[in-house]
Amino acid sequence: MSRKAFVASDAEWCYHGGAMVKLGDVRLSPATHALNYGTGVFEGIRAYWNEERGTLQVLKLREHYERFERSCRMLRIELPHTIDELCDITLEILKRNGPREDTYIRPLAYKSVTAVGVNLKGESELSIFTVPMGDYVELTGLKVCVSSWRRTPDTSIPARGKLTGSYINTALAVDEAHRAGYDDAIFLTQDGHVSEASAANIFIVRKGQLITPPVTADILEGITRDAVMELADKEMEIPVIERDVDRTELYAADEVFLSGTGFQIAPITEVDGRPVGTGSIGPVVEKLQELYFKAARGEWPEYADWTVKVEVAEGARR
Ligand SMILES: Cc1ncc(COP(=O)(O)O)c(C=O)c1O
Repeated sequence: MSRKAFVASDAEWCYHGGAMVKLGDVRLSPATHALNYGTGVFEGIRAYWNEERGTLQVLKLREHYERFERSCRMLRIELPHTIDELCDITLEILKRNGPREDTYIRPLAYKSVTAVGVNLKGESELSIFTVPMGDYVELTGLKVCVSSWRRTPDTSIPARGKLTGSYINTALAVDEAHRAGYDDAIFLTQDGHVSEASAANIFIVRKGQLITPPVTADILEGITRDAVMELADKEMEIPVIERDVDRTELYAADEVFLSGTGFQIAPITEVDGRPVGTGSIGPVVEKLQELYFKAARGEWPEYADWTVKVEVAEGARR
């Protein structure tokens, strides 16, 4: 039930202040604007380790930085680098750190001005660091609840931006769910339709169709969501439909699962104490998990453009 913590090591290289530095050497003032007001933007990118080849496969690197740039625009944060440069810096960090395990990359751009006052003025800073990350959640069947917290509407905080401050909404819902013994929480929108999970998009399978809430349901427009829709359409020939989803469709569905960079493809076997379908992992999500990992781990030539390979030199750092 409890989620693992993924801890960043002070000894790792990161990018901060325009240079490669050790994470432990970075100092931030408590007056940093983003720390006080949540005026930051971030991304979560995965790199999968391949023991046989001695390589890391960075998944959808460019797509993440494209979304990062869009989120920055919402908070009037000017990035000091182009998307190509951000990709190169990320690959350089991975080469220096040389992790021989699945790794999560966290780019963070934030208002770094040390002035008190709520606004979007002032300078910003870019930091990029990495943490080791295996499975963020169990992939063998999650038990979730519908949260009493509603997803922050786009009319209040941009839902399609990955903004640090908006994750208070997430933390409240996850805290509530964990304390009640669930693995995660499903948000409803203000008008009561299914939105998404804490940090993952949601899909249901009903009557042979794959259904997911539309991008107007206050969701983060997930990169894994797009990947799932592509695989279902091209490889499984399942009709994919984006439409409003009612709460009780979660109870009536044959299958329910989550998609996200951290969550990967995570089947849900129970919603609000009711078994989903047969109560065990369904055939559609099982197949999608298999296809997704084959492509994400760089083991499927047809999907080679999903990943960027990083050669990790033996003993690069460790
Ligand atoms: C709120 C939220 N929704 C959905 C997702 C899934 O997005 P992605 O597949 O791009 O990781 C995430 C994860 O980043 C998230 O934080």
